[in-house]
Amino acid sequence: MCGIVGAIAPQDVSPVLVEGLRRLEYRGYDSTGVAVAPQAGTLCLRRAVGKVAMLQQRLDAAPCAGPIGIAHSRWATHGGVTEANAHPHVSGDRIALIHNGIIENYVELRSELVAQGYAFASETDTEVIAHLVHDHVKQGLDLTVAVQQAVRRLTGAYAIVVFDAQQPDRIVVARIASPLVVGLAEGANYVASDVQALLPVTKRFQFLEEGDVADIRRDSVTIFDADGHPVQRPVHESSLSADAVERGEYAHYMLKEIHEQPRAIADTLSERIVSDHVLEAAFGPRAAQVLPLVQQVHIVACGTSYHAGLVARYYLEQGARIPCTVEVASEYRYRNPVVMPGTLFLAISQSGETADTLAALREARKLGYVATAAICNVPESSLVRESDLVLMTRAGPEIGVASTKAFTTQLAALGLLGLAIAQRRGIDRRIVALYTRQMRQVPEMVEHTLKLDAAIRGWAQAFSDKHHALFLGRGPTWPIAMEGALKLKEISYIHAEAYAAGELKHGPLALVDHDMPVIAVAPNNTLLEKLKSNLQEVRARGGRLFVFADPNTGIEPSEGVDVITMPDHIEPLQAPLVYTIPLQLLSYHVAVLRGTDVDQPRNLAKSVTVE
Ligand code: F6R
Repeated sequence: MCGIVGAIAPQDVSPVLVEGLRRLEYRGYDSTGVAVAPQAGTLCLRRAVGKVAMLQQRLDAAPCAGPIGIAHSRWATHGGVTEANAHPHVSGDRIALIHNGIIENYVELRSELVAQGYAFASETDTEVIAHLVHDHVKQGLDLTVAVQQAVRRLTGAYAIVVFDAQQPDRIVVARIASPLVVGLAEGANYVASDVQALLPVTKRFQFLEEGDVADIRRDSVTIFDADGHPVQRPVHESSLSADAVERGEYAHYMLKEIHEQPRAIADTLSERIVSDHVLEAAFGPRAAQVLPLVQQVHIVACGTSYHAGLVARYYLEQGARIPCTVEVASEYRYRNPVVMPGTLFLAISQSGETADTLAALREARKLGYVATAAICNVPESSLVRESDLVLMTRAGPEIGVASTKAFTTQLAALGLLGLAIAQRRGIDRRIVALYTRQMRQVPEMVEHTLKLDAAIRGWAQAFSDKHHALFLGRGPTWPIAMEGALKLKEISYIHAEAYAAGELKHGPLALVDHDMPVIAVAPNNTLLEKLKSNLQEVRARGGRLFVFADPNTGIEPSEGVDVITMPDHIEPLQAPLVYTIPLQLLSYHVAVLRGTDVDQPRNLAKSVTVE
């Protein structure tokens, strides 16, 4: 989604602004822009369609330097991808404004402002805010008050950052439902949609809350809550290093993040299992009070995180013997679900800012759940702040738009949740101990599986000219097939679908021919023989099979059947995590062969903060 950066400092802020945008590139965007006030009364604006590099070229050709400025990377919602629609938007050559979110009542505000004589230069919903603020400033209001009054007129979601070039002594920001963080430094202050944008200039941050408006000057930050009262927000020291988001020797962030998984999974498990027992305190101080009351679990998430939830259903029902439903957040939030006593609501999200997931959480809070819980990768996210129980995945920043290490760490965290609930439900301690040992073995197994990279790269050629692919799995690796299909479509743009292999004969088998590669995940579990029969059904129709198989399955390479043998002794609990790895690598290599933008696939954004 849109990236936001703002800075006020004694020196030229334009390098910090552009570097901030570069560090937010992973969020996905289509155009960028920067506005700086070189001195009081002048506004310098540069915008470009495309990557930050295009904006940099514009700035190199015609620099825009000054001690106060804002910058934005846009992910189009209202109006096409054009320079005119790129932010910042300007009103009266003095008010410059950037925005992340969607203003739902912009049509009526626009008509009102047009009637007052404001000329619109873009098709965006954002431009109305710039004119609204300007209108209040023209009436003599102080900029902070002008913003407070303007946002009262808005319906929808926003993080906005604005300054007045005629009085360039401050930046004013406001937020509802879109994240904003203030960065504090000596004699300079900053704002951004994400701490990563500001790590080169500060490690000290204040996270703004719903409805906050902040007046940010060089040497002070004053925050007002939704009622306009001054408030203190805690100052957090970030432990992230500025180079946590560097790509290093890897060709793409996605590849780097795939290879980071052994460490990320180990970190997610570490200190949370002690003597073959999961520490409930890992879920927060309320866990000991809540977990004994849990009789069933409703899991809600989007995209890849939803697939993690589908795996968790097996962990919770088969392992912990507790009923579990899993649903996509965009449907859940409007469905008015029935909530039985003792139900735990669990949201899974890498970013913790996904609009649908947050809205589902807020809806759930009204529905009588025993508690809300979150599995999330971003400690200061809205989801974490608003949930009763929290288990952090420790994947570190995930920059590639396609989720990889966030997914496997979610699976590790969900395994811990399943075990914590199993402990409370009196499941045999020896079984819990066995499962905790198996979880701890996963990082090493993932490490071994990464060594299959060269063999998987060898397969990629067979997919590079295909238009469709089918993924098959059964049991807990069916959601892994779904995740494999999602990875392939989002980064290589090949249409891919996943099926529970037993469903094939109920329709999709009609699609199978020599031009439809079928990828199957075949761990050694109780469903193996059934899966093998399903694979025979594919072969009998001339379909070409690519199978990731356990060494003991008896599935051998033959005419039309390619097999990559997975490491030995992968237990059913471990299989979802370990079998994810080859599917990620396959999608990656196919995408590289097809020359797509692996880290920033078209039309997608990392953090989906709009509905
Ligand atoms: C796919 C992907 C998305 C996200 C989804 C939810 O690779 O990354 O499907 O999983 O947008 O995002 P989070 O987990 O941040 O709520």
